[in-house]
Formats: sequence, C-alpha cells, structure tokens
Amino acid sequence: LKTKVGIIGGGPAGLMLSHLLSKSGIENIVIEMRDHETISNTHRAGILEAQAVSMLTDSGVEGRVLTHGDEHAGIDLRFNGESHPLDFRELVDATVTLYAQNEVFVDLAAARARDNGDVRFNCEVTEILDVETSTPKFRFTDAEGTLFEVHADVIVGADGSRSFARRQMPDSVKQDFKVTYPFAWFGILTEAPKSSPELIYANSPHGFALISQRSETVQRMYFQCDPNENVDDWSEDRIWSELNQRVAGPDGFELKTGPIFDKTVLGFRSFVRQPLSHGRMFLIGDAGHTVPPTGAKGLNLAFADVKVLFEALDSFFSTGSGKLLGGYSDLALKRVWKAQNFSYWMTSMLHTPVDADPFMAQRALGELETVTSSRYGQQYLAESYTGWPHS
Ligand code: DHB
Repeated sequence: LKTKVGIIGGGPAGLMLSHLLSKSGIENIVIEMRDHETISNTHRAGILEAQAVSMLTDSGVEGRVLTHGDEHAGIDLRFNGESHPLDFRELVDATVTLYAQNEVFVDLAAARARDNGDVRFNCEVTEILDVETSTPKFRFTDAEGTLFEVHADVIVGADGSRSFARRQMPDSVKQDFKVTYPFAWFGILTEAPKSSPELIYANSPHGFALISQRSETVQRMYFQCDPNENVDDWSEDRIWSELNQRVAGPDGFELKTGPIFDKTVLGFRSFVRQPLSHGRMFLIGDAGHTVPPTGAKGLNLAFADVKVLFEALDSFFSTGSGKLLGGYSDLALKRVWKAQNFSYWMTSMLHTPVDADPFMAQRALGELETVTSSRYGQQYLAESYTGWPHS
C-alpha cells in the first residue's frame, strides 16, 4: 500500500488528523488495533474546550456535539464542605462543552466512513521501518492474519499511552519525564438525575470526588481510590456512601442516586516523551504524553497536537518545505507542559493521599482558599480549564 501519511491509531487524535488531511486532499490511511465497538464503549473524560468543539464543527464532522453536548460556563470547587462556584463566562469570557470522548470517536469514525476515508479497525502494526529516511514504512496484519506493508512519506503515532510507535525511537534521541501518583479514580455511570447544575470538584478528608454528568438521565462520577482497588468489592450502597461523604457539608448537600451500570478504575500518571518526533515519525496525543484526568486535558491536548501537526503537514505537502514539520515537537511541547502543569496542580490541590502529611493536606486547603478568594486566582484556573489559545 502506498500513501502520503500513515497514521497508527484510530482514536480521536488519529481520526481527527486523518479527517483534516483528507479535506486538504492529502491521502492517508489509519490503522487501529481495537474494533469500533470497543472504542465506542471505552468511557473517558467528557470536557471539550471551545477550540476542540470548533475543530469538529468547522471541519464538517456532522456530529452531535452541538445538539447533544452541554455548554458549561463554570465549575464548583467544594472544600471544607462548602461550595465555591467559578463562573468562567464572567471570569474569562469562555465556556466548555460536556460531550463524552467516546461520542467524539463515534462522530469522527462516522465522518471518515461518510467521506470514504481508509480506516482499518482490528489491525495490528507489527513493525515500523526506515523512519530516519524519506521513505518510512510499516507492516500490519488484519483480523485474518494477512500481512500488509504501508509505504508513506510520513508516519504518525496516534496509538495511545501504550504507544508501539513511541517504542521505536532509539534511546540515544529520547528523554522521558514521568510522575506516578499513589491513587487512581473509581469511575461510575449511573442512571440518575443531575445532582447539581455544574460539575463539582471536591476536596475532602476522605479524598477527592468529581460529580460530572452525561445527560438528564445519566451521570458520571469519580472518587479517588487505591490503584489496586477491585470494582467487585464495591456494592452500590458502598459507592454512594463513599461519594456522599466526600461532598457532604453543613449545607446538607446530597447526591441524587440511581442504579450504577458501569464501574472502572482509571490509572493515573503524568508522562512526556521528548522530542515528539524522530525522522519522519511524529507522535500525537497520548502516544507522546499522558496527563492525569483531573481537569480533562487529555483529548483537548491531543486535538491541539493535531492542529499543529496538520498545519505542518499541509505546508510540507504543498510547498515541499519541512520547516514547520521540523518545529512540530517544540511548538506542541509548549502547550503540553502547560497542560502537564495544570493537570498536576489540579490533582495535587484536590486529592488527599491516604497517608497524607497533615501539613500538606492543610496546605492544599490553603491553596484552594487562595484560588477561590481572589479574582486573579479564579481567572488563572478558568483560563487554564477553558484552554489557552491554540498556537
Ligand atoms: C470528566 C472527567 C474529568 O477528568 C474532568 O475533569 C471533568 C469531567 C467527565 O468524565 O465527565
């Protein structure tokens, strides 16, 4: 097979890049290991920056983000049992949209199918070759075990946090940065009405909780847990009392409960690979960097990578100049490190490790008080949460 851009990974980042390239007449192919149904049912975060929404709507992904997404103009930071609402529209004149990441995938996959994009699910990339030359290649097998070889001008690794593409970079050129956390998130989906108009991020002596939403009748909630927690040990009653004690306060706030139909433990880490490119191979999204979920920057950051890389590829294929491609890694990494800082900051301010040093736990409350009692503090959080301007 011969193409211009060979994209390894058909999650939201790989599909968005493929969609933009095709719209510019740049031939590409997407190879994805999982099947469509598995990705559609993988529940991830649900907050889209306005810029991420624009990338979908301006490029003609006829998704349901505008009709089914919910615009949110703020969040509630809850600590010491008290609510502290932040109004993003008033603070920084921006909003975000709550629209689940698996729905973004469904919409993008539908747009690629509609436009006859070459997207192959259930295919495993086994080898990546010659990325240091101008004729890189990779090999993959389809579900029947048939072997294919793809000859491309450029290869893109969009294959997620356990990226195969990333592992092909030689030790001599790469540097990895990481943080591990002594906790994870227990995520649930429940059939219940909304408990509050805005998302609640709660710091409590029992640990963090996030009260999010999916629709009028389905809600998404998370609570900080041990990374080795077994979801089968958690009955519905136990989950509700754990969540409720983390949002409880003198105002008597209680969650609206209902049947729980999905339970998962989500791992936590911060990771950056530098550089985000090697020869003719470029990494986007989780393949190049992972953030902890607090603040929901993962997909937004992946789309920001896509924008920078798309513009560089567009320039490369129309002018023959590799100047923008050569600058991709440095430019993308600027935003990556801003998002790494924000995600780490939100995580450390809102979570309480099980064996927390009492000083550190009180210090985090001091930080929350500083942020919420100052307009500058609120604006700092609001600007980061709603997303810095794309470069
Ligand atoms: C959701 C997840 C997040 O990590 C977050 O910060 C906000 C919302 C969600 O799944 O709805």
